[in-house]
Parts: sequence; C-alpha cells; structure tokens
Amino acid sequence: MKTTIAVVNGPNLGRLGRREPGIYGHQSWEDIWQELVKSFPEIQLESFQSNHEGALIDYIEQLLDRAVSGLVLNPGALAHQSYALRDCLKAAGLPVVEVHLSNVHAREAFRATSLISPVVWGQIAGLGPLGYHLAIEALARHQGVSS
Ligand code: DQA
Repeated sequence: MKTTIAVVNGPNLGRLGRREPGIYGHQSWEDIWQELVKSFPEIQLESFQSNHEGALIDYIEQLLDRAVSGLVLNPGALAHQSYALRDCLKAAGLPVVEVHLSNVHAREAFRATSLISPVVWGQIAGLGPLGYHLAIEALARHQGVSS
C-alpha cells in the first residue's frame, strides 16, 4: 500500500495564478498539483483547499482516523491568526510541514509571526511551488519512503 500524504491549502489559495501573481506566481493550483502527482508516483497524494477555518480543521481531524503519514499545509493567513488551527495541529500527532509560497519574513510585519510554526515539524517559506515538492520529499524521507 502506498504511503498517503495530504496537501492542504487554506483561504485564498484556490485562486493561485490569478491572485497577486507578482507575489504568488502564475501557476494555478491545478498546474502545481499535476507536477506534484507526476513527481511522486510512489506516494498517494491527496489535495484539499478551503477558505473556511472549520472546514480545514474538520478535514485535518478526519486524516487522523485514516492511515495518513503526513500533512503539507499552506494555511494562508490562518497561520497568523488561528489558535484553533494551532490547537488542532498540536493535538494531531501527525508530522506537518508548513509551506508558504512567499517569503513571509520579508513582507508585512504581521506575516512574520506564524502561530502554527511552534507545533509543526518544519516550515518552508519563499520558494514558491518548490516548497510543496520539498515538503513532500521531507515527509517521505521521514517515513522512510523513497520517491
Ligand atoms: C501565504 C502567506 C500568507 O501570509 C498569506 O496570507 C497567504 C499565502 C503564502 O503562501 O505565501 O494567503 O501563506
């Protein structure tokens, strides 16, 4: 059975490619996703996006009842404001890599603080879509799966 890794995007990330392309790039999520699926044939990847905090938490909670090995999460602005998401991840006991397409440390001051960083395994910021690839690679190695 293939290892499963979930890739989750939070608010406003459904509009990648059209949303501030100077910051978030010209690729749509569909394009990025196709590349990810092609790059990791040994891994069962699943993708979820929501603009709603509760829907994201519901989705993450149901991962815990299944044999999911890790989570790649771009929380969008919820990184900077959601204690509920932080509590969910802290309790999850799942290896999580937080990904930000942009370098959140080089932008507005409020983006430099992530409430979830202290409770995740690692964080990647500023590398664009490559961040998702590297996060999956890291989780796969963590699980001893070669990609
Ligand atoms: C983001 C950075 C956040 O500050 C912002 O609110 C986003 C996207 C990123 O991928 O760079 O929605 O998470």
